[in-house]
Amino acid sequence: MAEEVLQAIRERRSVRAFSPEPVSASDLEKILEAGRWAPSGKNTQPWAFILVKSKAKRAALAGLSRQKELIESAPVCLAVLLDRERGYDRDKDMQGIGACVENMFLAAHALGLGACWVGGVSGSKEEAAKVLELKGNEELVMLLLVGHPAPSEASPPGPRVRRPLQEFLREI
Ligand SMILES: Cc1cc2nc3c(=O)[nH]c(=O)nc-3n(C[C@H](O)[C@H](O)[C@H](O)COP(=O)(O)O)c2cc1C
Repeated sequence: MAEEVLQAIRERRSVRAFSPEPVSASDLEKILEAGRWAPSGKNTQPWAFILVKSKAKRAALAGLSRQKELIESAPVCLAVLLDRERGYDRDKDMQGIGACVENMFLAAHALGLGACWVGGVSGSKEEAAKVLELKGNEELVMLLLVGHPAPSEASPPGPRVRRPLQEFLREI
């Protein structure tokens, strides 16, 4: 199991082109479950999710982003929110949400799906809140796009690059 997890971490990559094939309800549930089990400061679980199924809402949201086409074409668009009523410390709440999203990102990969993490919209947060009908205590953090990778994703444009460990690890 250790090797499978480590391999999934190494092999996961962002997918930015999807085939139109829908994501099955059971796969979607597994992805959301993976998010649900993420760690969070004081176990506050300061996140909330909105599955953006409405085409009109999706288009409006996409209109606030520089990645309009990608957001509109992904079979699944999940808006991940910070629920300030559940949270207790913005830095720690965001760390928990990062863990939650990474769990879902890895779950999508493990299921043979592709995903892209879109770290917010470039338009105003207020506009996004209006489109998503957010409650007063909620804030859009990011969008997770999920789907079956398009055939073009079989040969991604270049190797994934990571800084070598020695470059950023030090001991004291
Ligand atoms: C906080 C965060 C914000 C990101 N925002 C975007 C984004 O807005 N659009 C996008 O296409 N990718 C976005 N990404 C994906 C990164 O570009 C990607 O993870 C990085 O280039 C490494 O590539 P890999 O995921 O294929 O390993 C984001 C990733 C993170 C963690």
